[in-house]
Amino acid sequence: MSKPRVFVTREIPEAGLELLRQNCDVEVWTDLLPPSYEVIKAKVAECEGLLSLLTDRVDAELMDAAPKLKVIANYAVGYDNIDVDAATARGIKVGNTPGVLTEATADFAFCLMCAAARRIVEGVLYARNGHWHTWEPRGHLGQELWGATIGILGMGRIGYAMAYRAHRGFNMRVLYHDVRENEHAEQNLGAQRVDLDTLLSESDYLSIHTDLNPSTEGLFGREEFAKMKDRAVLINSARGPIVQTEALYEALRDRVIWAAALDVTDPEPLPSDHPLYTLPNCIITPHIASATYTSRNRMAVMAAENILAGLRGDTLPTQVNPEVK
Ligand code: GLV
Ligand code: GLV
Repeated sequence: MSKPRVFVTREIPEAGLELLRQNCDVEVWTDLLPPSYEVIKAKVAECEGLLSLLTDRVDAELMDAAPKLKVIANYAVGYDNIDVDAATARGIKVGNTPGVLTEATADFAFCLMCAAARRIVEGVLYARNGHWHTWEPRGHLGQELWGATIGILGMGRIGYAMAYRAHRGFNMRVLYHDVRENEHAEQNLGAQRVDLDTLLSESDYLSIHTDLNPSTEGLFGREEFAKMKDRAVLINSARGPIVQTEALYEALRDRVIWAAALDVTDPEPLPSDHPLYTLPNCIITPHIASATYTSRNRMAVMAAENILAGLRGDTLPTQVNPEVK
């Protein structure tokens, strides 16, 4: 019997590809840049499995072009790039990679927060570019982290891991806003659940850890920035479209808020001539929060295991539409 066919939309770590190759007829897209929508559509036509990245749009039309498709494994914890309802309606299982990137992502969000608070990127460029002539009593002043108030938008796994670092390591008071209560965070970290306005107005640091969905898309706009402290730092390591880019640009330029550190942007990638790059109080990194050797290897294995389970007709180890049996 011929092996099931699987299309992998980019070169993921070898550990995952190796697992797939043992059991499937695997085609891997080896370019650095993603395959176009049309290319993916053509590639999956005969496939039973698709291993996709967060940069690949996987919608109903694409699924209809792949009548044999049984399983889509996203190489990410977020899966807003996939029309899950359309997959469910077609009996296609969808998996993601939760858990294995939680600590790496929280580590990175925490690093971004520190970098913005203490103006580390500005300082590095200042020294490197030959501006360091003396020790300046009034230069390079930033914000303290110790004992500050952190607001967590979305107290899921990653939000909790960020709050844990802030509270246990830096004695921070933790506020959070979420549709669900997180008892564990309340008991362990003294976290206090508040409404969005309170989160905005009381946080010295506001870190976004929610998924992108219709209720979070564009959540941060001019009005929200106006409610924040003028010393506030916004950290986004979740999804770019949760923040309105133009409104953020104006808020940072006009010092409505103090600084922002973004690992995700809208659009993504952010074009190199975008005005946000010109602001000294904005740090932008290229969506790399999960980029550690350990996390990316584990994500690769987890995504491959989701594919293999789907091909066998089993429930995926991490399935986001468990109603598909
Ligand atoms: C990265 O953004 C992910 O969702 O895994
Ligand atoms: C994702 O892992 C989350 O629930 O925060």
